[in-house]
Parts: sequence; C-alpha cells; structure tokens
Amino acid sequence: MDRFVIKGGRRLNGEVHISGAKNAAASILPGTILIGGRCTIKNIPDISDVKLTFDILEHLGASVRYDGAGEAEVDCTGISSLEVPSRLGSMMRASHFFLGVLLARFGKAASPLPGGCDLGERPIDQHLKGFEAMGAEVSIDNEYIRVFVPEGRRLKGADITFDMVTVGATMNLMLAASLAEGTTVLRNAAKEPHIVDLAGFLNAMGADVSGAGTDTVTIRGCESLRGGEYSLVPDQIEAGTYMAAAAAAGGTVRICDVIPSHLECISEVLRRMNVEITEGDDWVEVSRSGRLRAADITTMPYPGFPTDMQPQIGAVMCLAEGKSTIVESVWSERFRYLDELSLMGAEASYGGDTAVITGKEKLHGAKMSACDLRAGAAMIIAALAADGTSEICNIGFVERGYQDITGKLAGIGAEIDIVRSGYHNE
Ligand code: EPU
Repeated sequence: MDRFVIKGGRRLNGEVHISGAKNAAASILPGTILIGGRCTIKNIPDISDVKLTFDILEHLGASVRYDGAGEAEVDCTGISSLEVPSRLGSMMRASHFFLGVLLARFGKAASPLPGGCDLGERPIDQHLKGFEAMGAEVSIDNEYIRVFVPEGRRLKGADITFDMVTVGATMNLMLAASLAEGTTVLRNAAKEPHIVDLAGFLNAMGADVSGAGTDTVTIRGCESLRGGEYSLVPDQIEAGTYMAAAAAAGGTVRICDVIPSHLECISEVLRRMNVEITEGDDWVEVSRSGRLRAADITTMPYPGFPTDMQPQIGAVMCLAEGKSTIVESVWSERFRYLDELSLMGAEASYGGDTAVITGKEKLHGAKMSACDLRAGAAMIIAALAADGTSEICNIGFVERGYQDITGKLAGIGAEIDIVRSGYHNE
C-alpha cells in the first residue's frame, strides 16, 4: 500500500509556492463546456481530481491539451456525449457540475450520483431544485441523475433562494444560468474565493455575472460564450495547510503566490495560538518559536473559518497548551481524523458537532490511515511535529487535492517520502 513516511521533529524554514485552487478548477474546467470553442486555463493544480476532470471532458468529446505545467487548452466544439460515465463521475464530488453545463448548452445531461470524500450526508437537492426552477425535469434512477429541458427549449432564468449556504449549488447554477434565457438571481449564495473566481472565468468568456462574493449573485443569460484565457485563483486551503504545518513544526515559512485577504480568518486563529504572521502583497510568512496556545473555532461558510481547514488546525491544537474547542457546522463526519491522531498520543474527544482537544507538549510517531483529503493533511501536519517516524496510508485521498505535497514540504526542510508498493486498496 502506498504511504507517506515522515520523520518528525524538524523545524520548517524557507519558501513554499501555492498552486491554483482545487475547488475553482472543480467548476471552471467543466465550465469550458459552455464555450462552443477553445479556451486556455492557467494555474491548474496538478492533482488527481483534475486528471479525472480531464478524463471526463475527453470522454464527452472535448479535446484537452495539458502542458504538464498548469496550463491546458480545452476545445469543447466536438462534445458528442451528454452522459458522464459512472466509472469516472462516481469517483469525485465535482462531477455534478457536468450536469449544469451540459444541460445549459445541450438541454440534456446525465451523471452518476457524485462521490468524493465521505464527510457525512452530501445531498445535492439544492442543485436539482435550481435546475427545476429553471424549467428542467430531473429524475434519479439506478444512482444516475438525469436532467433535461423539453425539446426545442432552453433553461429559463429564475429567482432561486437556497435553503442553506452551498458552494456547489451556487456554482452549478451560475454555470447553468450563464446560457439560460433571461436573468437568474441566486439568493443566500456562497461567497468563497472560488465563487468569485468562477464569476471571473465566466465573465472573461463573455458571460454577465455580477454580485459574486456577496449573498446575491445575478446572472444575465447569454446566447453563447466566446473562448478566452483565464488563470485560476491560488488555493486558499493549500496555503492554510502550509501555514498550519509551520505553526505545528515551528520555524519560519514564507507562503508565496497567495491572496493574503483570503487567509485572514486562518491568520487570525493562528495569531491567537501564539503564531506570528506577517503579510506582503502576495505572500504570508508564518513563524512560531514559543509554545502554541489553545483556541476555540467554529467553522462557517466564507468569510468564516473554513471547514476545509478544520482538521489541519485541529492537528495544531493537539500541540497547544490548554483546551481547544472546535464546532464543525458544515460536515457531520469531519472529526474522524482525531481517532488517528490519538494513535500519536493526542488527547481529543468529540460528539455531535463539537470536539474538545487538550494539547500535549509532544506527540509521537504512529501508523495512520487518511480517511479523507483534509484528514490526511492533518495527519501529515501532526507527524511533522511529532517525535519519531509516522506512516500514513490511503495517500490517494491527499493526492486528490495537494500538488506535490512531499516535494513542497521537503523544500522547507521536512523529512517526508512516498513509499509506493504497487499494491492498492484505496
Ligand atoms: N447541502 C445540502 N444540499 C445541497 C448542497 C449542500 O443540504 O444540495 C449541504 C451539505 O450537506 C453541507 C452544506 O450544505 O452540509 C454545504 O455544502 P456545499 O454544497 O457548500 O459543499 P460542496 O459544494 O459539496 C464544496 C467543496 C468542499 C467544501 C465545501 C464547503 C468542492 C468539490 N468541494 O463542497 O471541499 O468542504 O464546498 O466549503 O468544491 C475539500 O476540499 O476538502 C472539500 C470537502
């Protein structure tokens, strides 16, 4: 089984460069289908979820030319299939974006129920409710979602209020509404940086989206979108993960190619934990020499503390003096990583939406298993700070969302390797 092997206890020092955002790529790459021609997307992270998205695009008939260094030219002129294959679509969460874009451009689409990390219930009723409000018919049979608009019609603009703040449904309906007839207003919309990035991409391709980053997004539908070029926003969560790694292991790490305002909420929590943070135009520097202090956090949609940083900060809390409390308000099953960290000597308990962590001065190396993407990141962070050697298996979860995490960590002084055995059970 492939695994990370980490020898802990080394301080981290130096510079790390952040890649484009996974969750922006997740919607923008399917979004290229809205364009009946060619476009170029830059700063694409080299992660397995992106490879899967390229595979789906190619299966549908798109031509994808990836240069291996973050830039892809995608030509969706020749789309010939409107059905995402079960084998590919069920392996990732973001496959549901193909429903919105195929429906908007061709009036019809099918995709398996989305997969992705197991974080508890992950319904997509808000996506489907939005498609229906725009005149689509929706059915689910044999784990397949089918959507269509009656022959000869297009999606129609609608006024849609989400029952909860949802990143995925906000993005899916922004995509679909860009080629709808008339205006769509999305209320109670999510405000994450990748929502603003999706609007930037759509507008760069000739769409008319306003209000992204506020709780009301307005999309005036167009007949067609033209091609163009777009560069993805830096990954807020990848940056936050290296901030947490530096905080846990100690040392001084400059995290480059970021938008510091996207990281404010993470910086604020780390400062409370006795971590020094300085900022430049496109970097943040994280420095920690004294003992970490406990803190309390509640995860919230942006601009609140991101749920996708909760496990990584949880790992830092395992080393902080005092009792920290985490309230997780987005995903019900996001504390399982604490069971693995307890193998390293961490003291934590959880129930319902709350976890309580009593920090230890030291953790010790252990064998762990990544149970999802950010859980795996949390285990890596704890292992970097621990005495002795740790092994983390199920690394496929981590490779889903972090570009070259071993190379980037080794570049700032970590002792981390991937041992590939050729035998997979992931
Ligand atoms: N929800 C519904 N119905 C829906 C949609 C969402 O009840 O139709 C609920 C969910 O169950 C959840 C909450 O609303 O409790 C928020 O879900 P959201 O739709 O915002 O999440 P998502 O779009 O499925 C994306 C990211 C996640 C990230 C969340 C929240 C992608 C591919 N995934 O998921 O990323 O945690 O937004 O920010 O963009 C990760 O990167 O590790 C990750 C899990």
